[in-house]
Amino acid sequence: MATMADVARSAGVSIATVSHVLNGTRPVLPHTRQAVLDAVEDLGYTPNTLARSLVTARTRSIGLAVSAISNPYFTEILQGVEAAALEEGYSLLIADPHDDPEHERKVVQLLHERRVEGMIVAPSPEPAGLLAYLRRHQVPAVFLDRLVGPPAEDGPPLFDQVCAESTEPTAGLVTHLASLGHRRIGLVAGLPGLSTTAERITGYRHGLAASGLPFDGRILVHGDSEAAGAERATAELLNLGSRPTALITANNAMTIGALRALRAHGLSVPGDIALCCFDDFAWADLFSPRLTAVSQPSRDIGARAVRMLLDRLADPDRPTRTERLPCAFVHRTSCGCPEDATAPKKGTPS
Ligand code: HPA
Repeated sequence: MATMADVARSAGVSIATVSHVLNGTRPVLPHTRQAVLDAVEDLGYTPNTLARSLVTARTRSIGLAVSAISNPYFTEILQGVEAAALEEGYSLLIADPHDDPEHERKVVQLLHERRVEGMIVAPSPEPAGLLAYLRRHQVPAVFLDRLVGPPAEDGPPLFDQVCAESTEPTAGLVTHLASLGHRRIGLVAGLPGLSTTAERITGYRHGLAASGLPFDGRILVHGDSEAAGAERATAELLNLGSRPTALITANNAMTIGALRALRAHGLSVPGDIALCCFDDFAWADLFSPRLTAVSQPSRDIGARAVRMLLDRLADPDRPTRTERLPCAFVHRTSCGCPEDATAPKKGTPS
């Protein structure tokens, strides 16, 4: 494999000049620069970034640890992270902690051992080990999707963090269903311990209160953020004596599980039961009926996490902050609204 010395010899310049041309660290005369670039091309020279990292002590890499990478929500976050990192000249090392605290601590250590300059993590429901590791080793980190630590009113967060709004958009789904006449609206909630789960439950309760409806704990079930859990939880809900007339699912995977349970019970949407979901996904308008959903700005969450991390790297002492990005209400027909009522209302729940 060609080395920098080979390029220098071929171009008739010093190794330092080759380095300045490739790294843009000093102006080089145009004809010298061109001679270097020609030699790079002729010899097929590829810079050794590992060797450069040893000199600069910088790897220009970011570690990303998110669970459920196959979930389209997280896949889109990943796309946002990757595009923003690339734009800033950073590459990614990716790990999946499987929402398991033990595994999470292990993968974060592995990423740290590879000397990533900072990490972006979607923390598991029990992140104590993760937090201890990041603090002990002073790893610059940004949390995404799941918030950690004291509520915002109690001061700055432990780490920079970015997520979508969850409370108000969930309340909007409830008030929308209530405005259509529903009095028993069930919720299939996510994995306990995640901030997104807690905030969507809070939003559900706010929406009920705003609609003058009582909270009934029997029609709030936990689908554990995944399809199989939601299928089981929805089946429990459907077996109740007075089952809900409308259902809200708190993420995309749980929507799939709930739809399976509804089909198994021979129930149709929205004729027998109305359905609204948190999370829009690529196929949501191919379902019949088309799914009324809250759409999260997943790509923007990923891109924002990169910018926050780079801000932190540039200024390690800056105050930590939490950023929340708005969601959009995507009004379709699974809520029970007719096709022609849905188009103009896109953007605001009624
Ligand atoms: N958090 C928030 N939204 C989601 C998730 C999650 O873990 N999974 C699918 N949508």
